[in-house]
Amino acid sequence: MAILGRRDVKTVLVLGIATLFWVAEGAPYRQFCSGDRRDLVEISNATEPINNSTAAVNGTATVNNGNAGNANTVNNNGVFDVTTYGAKADDKTINTMAFMKTWVAACKNSTGTAKVFVPEGTFVTGPVVFQGPCLNPVIFEVKGTIKATTDPSDYAEDSWFLFQIIDGLTITGGGIFDGQGESMWKYNTCKNEHTCVKPPSSIKFQRVNNSIIDGITSLNSKYFHFHITDSSNYTVVNVNITAPANSPNTDGMHISDTSDIKVSDTKIGTGDDCISIGQGVTNAYISNVFCGPGHGLSVGSLGKYPNEKDVHGIFVTNCTLSNTTNGARIKTYAASPPSKASNITYQDIIMESVKNPIIIDQKYSSRSSPEPSKVELSDVHFKNIKGTTISNVAVTLSCSSSVPCKGVELLDINLAFHDPQSQNSTIASQCLNAEFTTGGAQNPPPCPK
Ligand SMILES: *[C@@H]1O[C@H](CO)[C@@H](O)[C@H](O)[C@H]1NC(C)=O
Ligand SMILES: *[C@@H]1O[C@H](CO)[C@@H](O)[C@H](O)[C@H]1NC(C)=O
Ligand SMILES: *[C@@H]1O[C@H](CO)[C@@H](O)[C@H](O)[C@H]1NC(C)=O
Ligand SMILES: *[C@@H]1O[C@H](CO)[C@@H](O)[C@H](O)[C@H]1NC(C)=O
Ligand SMILES: *[C@@H]1O[C@H](CO)[C@@H](O)[C@H](O)[C@H]1NC(C)=O
Ligand SMILES: *[C@@H]1O[C@H](CO)[C@@H](O)[C@H](O)[C@H]1NC(C)=O
Ligand SMILES: *[C@@H]1O[C@H](CO)[C@@H](O)[C@H](O)[C@H]1NC(C)=O
Ligand SMILES: *[C@@H]1O[C@H](CO)[C@@H](O)[C@H](O)[C@H]1NC(C)=O
Ligand SMILES: *[C@@H]1O[C@H](CO)[C@@H](O)[C@H](O)[C@H]1NC(C)=O
Ligand SMILES: *[C@@H]1O[C@H](CO)[C@@H](O)[C@H](O)[C@H]1NC(C)=O
Ligand SMILES: *[C@@H]1O[C@H](CO)[C@@H](O)[C@H](O)[C@H]1NC(C)=O
Ligand SMILES: *[C@@H]1O[C@H](CO)[C@@H](O)[C@H](O)[C@H]1NC(C)=O
Repeated sequence: MAILGRRDVKTVLVLGIATLFWVAEGAPYRQFCSGDRRDLVEISNATEPINNSTAAVNGTATVNNGNAGNANTVNNNGVFDVTTYGAKADDKTINTMAFMKTWVAACKNSTGTAKVFVPEGTFVTGPVVFQGPCLNPVIFEVKGTIKATTDPSDYAEDSWFLFQIIDGLTITGGGIFDGQGESMWKYNTCKNEHTCVKPPSSIKFQRVNNSIIDGITSLNSKYFHFHITDSSNYTVVNVNITAPANSPNTDGMHISDTSDIKVSDTKIGTGDDCISIGQGVTNAYISNVFCGPGHGLSVGSLGKYPNEKDVHGIFVTNCTLSNTTNGARIKTYAASPPSKASNITYQDIIMESVKNPIIIDQKYSSRSSPEPSKVELSDVHFKNIKGTTISNVAVTLSCSSSVPCKGVELLDINLAFHDPQSQNSTIASQCLNAEFTTGGAQNPPPCPK
């Protein structure tokens, strides 16, 4: 049973469970209240809670019997507690509406920084768009666990949670976002079908500026864990991201069209790239990230679609990759439209049993294509990269015949073969269409010039 392809406007999704209209990208954002699709709410224009009988519109309103105290504290401190808006931490109730109402109240509050608060306990919700613009910065503090619903037909958009059009968002609290992806991984056909309908990412950020994600955990996303796009000045720190090594497309963090992003002190283990830096990313600083299992810390894939924006100013430092298929990786499609990626540095990186520790691959996922990639790679630095590899080719610079890589630097590369099961412990470099310089230690020996 496969998830069917996406048509331009609407696609009928058949999973044997439910039939529904799949609203394609570009359609206006609307919210379906889980379990009751008659309720359509335009969040950004909502000025009052949708259901007066369950929402606290007033400092003294006690809605949720068990939380009368909360309701009071809450409004006195600019805290909007989801339980005040009807959410139940019983690992069962679908709390979508309560989360939406809480957001609307916090986002539209004029008094100062507003806090959406998710207390201890397990809250289940379907998809929610947390849309601004908000009147003030918003803190989204999660102490408990938020679990995604598992019925694929709940997800009309490409994300479970979408934070959109917000200036000054902080997500924090030490809590857990559990995408419950286990239920959907088996339907993911995106590896073999380019036209597949992608399952929803756990948390998508679009047009979010001056934002911080500090101290949360993301578990078992259905697709990407975090998808950050069209944003700027974005800091991710002290985050844990976990999914099994064999879960499809569970990238830890996919970033595109974003400037000034920092990711640090973060531990990522997934079934795909730990971090993938897509088109239009400029000035990214990735430090002290532990990646493994996973497919590496990647720039790309680039060149899949027309009109992709250039990538420049990517600095990855003080990271460890352990038991990953790739380490420091740049990937572009063959037969791509033209674009550029430049000023990319991987520095002070430790590899532990990594299959391809250093790899530029300009025929990514398009090996049989006769057309070369037109993504121009230049000013690329691999410095002080040490540790172990489990493949005999530890350095691969496989560039485009149309636009050869320029200004690649290999400085202090010190890798050793480590695979107890293999007889051949010789390691080598492989290069194609790459203009490079070397300095310091070089193990494996560099390609002959
Ligand atoms: C909000 O409402 C106005 C008019 O009622 C409409 O023009 C605008 O598109 C709405 N905004 C959103 C984001 O739906
Ligand atoms: C909510 O209550 C206010 C008055 O308190 C009323 O004006 C409004 O129409 C009600 N909204 C809904 C959706 O029932
Ligand atoms: C509004 O609240 C009432 C009482 O709690 C509930 O029965 C009803 O389902 C709610 N409606 C919506 C749209 O949430
Ligand atoms: C709002 O709070 C005031 C007291 O602060 C109370 O008198 C009033 O009845 C409340 N309104 C609602 C709709 O609960
Ligand atoms: C905003 O929040 C403050 C305190 O948190 C509360 O007193 C006020 O009533 C809220 N305003 C609106 C419009 O909800
Ligand atoms: C984010 O910043 C960009 C410019 O840097 C601006 O055009 C955009 O309106 C801002 N978005 C929000 C939601 O503040
Ligand atoms: C970036 O965002 C953070 C958090 O909102 C803020 O403190 C900082 O001033 C912003 N930096 C710039 C250059 O705007
Ligand atoms: C991340 O996981 C580590 C243990 O691996 C733990 O010490 C740390 O508190 C976690 N961080 C968060 C934000 O949950
Ligand atoms: C580098 O990472 C280690 C942990 O992996 C951390 O203890 C150290 O502070 C980091 N150094 C810098 C300069 O960030
Ligand atoms: C290269 O990128 C780094 C950030 O990674 C930035 O600090 C530096 O200014 C850039 N250099 C050039 C020449 O653009
Ligand atoms: C490496 O990852 C594989 C899954 O890809 C896992 O089965 C294996 O136990 C891991 N090995 C180590 C040493 O962590
Ligand atoms: C061992 O690996 C090296 C590097 O890839 C390769 O050149 C060589 O042919 C391999 N030797 C054997 C016996 O497979």
